[in-house]
Amino acid sequence: MKEVKIESTLYVFENLDELPEEISLLMQQAVKARENAYAPYSKFHVGAALLLDNGEVITGNNQENASYPSGLCAERTAIYYAGSQYPEAKVLRMVISAASKRQTTITPIPPCGACRQAISEYEEKQESPIEIYFMGEKGKIVKSNSLANLLPLVFDKSVL
Ligand code: THU
Repeated sequence: MKEVKIESTLYVFENLDELPEEISLLMQQAVKARENAYAPYSKFHVGAALLLDNGEVITGNNQENASYPSGLCAERTAIYYAGSQYPEAKVLRMVISAASKRQTTITPIPPCGACRQAISEYEEKQESPIEIYFMGEKGKIVKSNSLANLLPLVFDKSVL
């Protein structure tokens, strides 16, 4: 038996002022997208903004449903739209903002497991990393240089 350690490196920005301007602008678009979330059940509103290598910015938000599992997260709404409209484009980065209507969200909110799996598929497809930035409503912003950092031991097409 041997022990295997898995390490990931993340970068933490104290507030929006610390972000490069380009990222800050994408975060503004994620916040704007968040405001259109349809989240009457959880009251948890999430927005995602993606920058593609063709210069397009794609945004998305969570869309809930009375049949709860039929809803979709912001990240997948956005990346599936990008994949459907610009199948040849690469996603350079995804910027995420989340806010609850019940309390102020100061914890940076990472993509859920299902979204990590979905984003990972596009990283594999385009053969280049997707930078991920995520935050709550205010406070710190966390950056990962790739989705792979957030999903060790990924299940991918190599075993199919
Ligand atoms: N949600 C997202 O949109 N992204 C995530 O990564 C976490 C969860 C949404 C799904 C649901 O509409 C609400 O937040 C509460 O789980």
